[in-house]
Parts: sequence; structure tokens; C-alpha cells
Amino acid sequence: MTTPEVEAAFEALEGHKQRIAGTHMRDMFANDPARFDSFSVTYGELLLDYSKNRIDQGVMDALFDLAKAAGVDKRRSQMWHGEHINTTEDRAVMHMALRYQGLEEVTVDGENVMPEVREVLAAIETFSDKVRGGQIRGASGKKFTDVVNIGIGGSDLGPAMVTQALAPYTDPKKLRVHYVSNVDGAHLADTLAGLSPSTTLFIVASKTFTTDETMTNARSARSWIVNALDETAVSSHFAAVSTNIAACAKFGIDTDRIFGFWDWVGGRYSVWSAIGLPVALAIGYKNFDAFLKGAAAMDKHFRTAPFKDNIPVILALLGVWYRNVWGFPTHAVLPYDQRMVRFPAYLQQQDMESNGKAVTLDGRSVTRDTGPIIWGEPGTNGQHAFYQLIHQGTTVIPCDFLVAVRTRNGINGHHVKLVANCFAQSEALMLGKTAEEVVAELRASGMKADGIRALAPHKLFPGNRPSNTLVYPELTPGMLGKLIAMYEHKVFVQGVIWNINSFDQWGVELGKQLAKNIAPKVREPADTSMHDVSTQGLLTHYHNLRTKR
Ligand code: F6P
Repeated sequence: MTTPEVEAAFEALEGHKQRIAGTHMRDMFANDPARFDSFSVTYGELLLDYSKNRIDQGVMDALFDLAKAAGVDKRRSQMWHGEHINTTEDRAVMHMALRYQGLEEVTVDGENVMPEVREVLAAIETFSDKVRGGQIRGASGKKFTDVVNIGIGGSDLGPAMVTQALAPYTDPKKLRVHYVSNVDGAHLADTLAGLSPSTTLFIVASKTFTTDETMTNARSARSWIVNALDETAVSSHFAAVSTNIAACAKFGIDTDRIFGFWDWVGGRYSVWSAIGLPVALAIGYKNFDAFLKGAAAMDKHFRTAPFKDNIPVILALLGVWYRNVWGFPTHAVLPYDQRMVRFPAYLQQQDMESNGKAVTLDGRSVTRDTGPIIWGEPGTNGQHAFYQLIHQGTTVIPCDFLVAVRTRNGINGHHVKLVANCFAQSEALMLGKTAEEVVAELRASGMKADGIRALAPHKLFPGNRPSNTLVYPELTPGMLGKLIAMYEHKVFVQGVIWNINSFDQWGVELGKQLAKNIAPKVREPADTSMHDVSTQGLLTHYHNLRTKR
């Protein structure tokens, strides 16, 4: 239930919106040379510039009041103390323990979880070192050259994104790591096409070990190994990551190849757990450890920094400002880093599965909008595709730009252009281009008055379009860990303000149930009268086309 304090804070924000709505950001910058200093914050080597937003100090203070009114402090402490804040699943939310570096006990249900966490990390280290070093080999004694992680959602997106983002830390000549998620057989077939069974190691990654897509792919991978080698090879060519140890053993995976985690780790928060095993295999344990340490540093920042200096809190509040007070429905994440191509997709699950909710913690309908639509692509590619709409479309889209000062394995001369484009986009979005500027430009090009009149409206840029820019020296494992944890905490804070459970995902269940029910009718024509007429029509059409072939 919302509280009078939260309602008052939102009312105050509405007032601030009315107050600043008529002021263009261009003028805010012109009138305040210290705007960058006032509205940027650093944590270690990470800079967040949030000065290109529709804010002033009054707005920020009102947003911090909202965070206080919503009890962000209290909820953050409840999370860290292992309370079952995931109420609908009656679970603690303790992914921060997976990367915790301190000496304190971290308790869930009265038990210090750190010894078990560290035991699994040690097992990951040993296993990844031995596979990379060639001490653990395939059934025929050959070194593994390829690892295929089979998982979906949180058991795929995190490790797949991280492995790609940290490509400079991998050594594909020695070990390549692939990810198969889709139940579309093309995904597995295309991945296996270039691989040899005797040098391929599969990791079946599934928190529940029941997810249909993953189990279907795992069974097909198992047949691929058995057909090429034999049944006894399964134990050498498979490892598993799951909370469901019994199901892994039933699949035929040796107990010393099963890496466990716990129900207090949500799927979309699990890259820090044994779900990160393929990452450790790809980049080596030392780098995986640096990745965890980066996230731990962000946890410390989130837990200790006052709201006004707290990067995840600031990002969350700006998101709420745009979602609820301005009514902007989407948020773009635009990494200027080709290796971060899967970062927006990863954040889609992290944010949309967490905050795509329409009921409050006590089961009532929410009274204001919750999670925005998260989307994006790396720059500069997006500039030549959808940025048109961000600049001149009728929908305002707040953006996060991410860029590193240096790149590894880059080609001379490219990075300067990449960075220039990144900075230019946020500048263009903020400034826009006025009618006077457009007319002057066209006049200078020699265009006649009639032409200028016709063309000028099309060349106008409204500007005043908000963005955050995150700048860091280099995308190291530690920095990537920081960035991911930063977004996790942003999503958490927004969930607290919206008073929703950010840690369940009931919305994915109905489709799964119905797919199970429809599958037999796709396999064979059958009585479909219990379905709606659209579904009946689709099934009939499907079977008609199938028999035609
Ligand atoms: O369908 C959604 C979901 O439950 C995600 O939350 C989860 O990350 C994914 O499926 C995979 O689940 P599992 O790891 O249990 O296979």
C-alpha cells in the first residue's frame, strides 16, 4: 500500500515538473556553468554525468525525499539482513553474498552462508583451472577446446553477455565458450556444427533443472555425445549448475561436476554464482574474481553512500521521475562498446522481469506505472537505425550512454571516433537545434527563402531530451561487475518506490503452462475446440501447411 508520505513526495514532484516544464535544458546549462559539477558523481573510476536531465537541485532534493519516504534505507537493510523480501516465494534476496569480500557473517534464515558460498567458488576455481590447464579432459583423453553452456534467461543472459563483453580476457585459440538457449533446434545445431564431441564440454545451467527449453537442449546434447562417443562419456562431457542437485544427478552428471547455488539467488541475479562457471572458464578464475570484487565494491557504495552521492539511487530516482511524473514509457541503454552488444538484452531481463509488475506487495493494483520498457543497441550502430526517433520522434526516451576511455585490442583511430559519437549524441539530444539555427544554416548553404520555409521544420531538433552518461577508464572485469551491480541496485530502489516485489516472475508462468497444453496438438492434429477460435485457426492452418509439404 502506498503511504501518505510517498503520495506527498510524488505531489511535490508534480509541482517541480510544473515549475521547470517551460525551461529548456539548453537554458539550464547556459545559466549555470557549474551544472556538470553539481550533477555528476564519481565512485572510484566510474563517473556518472546526469547533468543532461530535466532537473535542478529542487527536483533532486524532492527525489531524495521520495526515496526516504518510500523507505529505501530500511528495505536495503532488510535485503542485506536476509529477510524474506521476496514475499510471494518466501525467500531471501541475497545475491550480494555471492560477491561479498568482507569478514562479517552474512546470514539467511539464521545461517551464515559465506562458508558455502566460498566453497562453491573454490570448486569453480579448481574446475576452471583444470579445464583450462588441460588436466580435466574429455572421455578420449583430449583437451577440451569448446564449452557449450545450455541455459536460458538468467542461466544464459548474464554469462553470455559477460563472456562477450570481456572478449579481450579470453583465449579462443585455447578454449571457446558458446551459449545455447533457444529451444529452436537451429541454435544447438548451428553451435555444434563446427565442434567435435571429443573436445566439447557441456554445462547444463538451470536453477530449477526443469526448464523445458534447457532440458530439451540438454537431452539433444547428451544424444550428440552418446552417438559420437558412448554412454560412459556423458560423465566426462557434462557439468551442471543448479539448485536442484537431485535432478542433475538423475540426468547422469557426476556429483563432483555439479555446482550448486541457493534459492536466495534469483535467476536474473545469478551470474555471480556457479552460473558464472562458463565465464570463469572463458576468462580464467582470477578475472572472474575481479568481476566479483567489482560488484562487491558497488554493493559497498550502494549500502553506504548517502543518497545524493549514490549512483544506483540517483539512476533509480531519475527513472522514476521520467516514468511516473513525465510519463515516458521506455528507457534506452546505449553502450558505446560493440562487445557489450548483449548488455541491453541482459538488462531487459534484469529490469523488466523484476519490475514488470502491476500489484503491490500486499496484492493491490498499483496506482502508478512501474517498470519501463528497456531496450537498446550499441552505438554507433543504433545511430543509423533508431536514433532518428530519439531525436525527433514524438516520444521522449531517456537514455543511458556508456563508454570507456580506453579499449583493449582495438584498432588505432577507431576509439576516438566512438567516444566522439557518444558525447555528441548526448549533446545533440540536450541542445537540439532551434528554428533560427536551422534557417541560418540553410541560408548559409545558399538555399532560397521558399526552400528554407519548406525544409526548416524537418530539420528542427526539439532538444531537451534527457540522458545519463557513464564513463570509465576501461571495460575490465571489475568495471563490468560494478556496472551490472549498479543496475541491479537501481532496479531494487525503483521496486521499493513502487512497492512491488522485484524478485518473483509469475508473469512468465502462464505462457509456459499453455505451451505444455498446446504441444500435443502441434505434434498431431487433435480436438482443439477448448481453445479460442484464433488458436484453433492457427493450429488448423499449421497442420494444413505441414501436410502439404
Ligand atoms: O522463465 C523465466 C525464468 O524462470 C527466469 O526467471 C530464469 O532466469 C529462467 O526462466 C531460467 O530458469 P532456470 O535457471 O530454472 O532454468
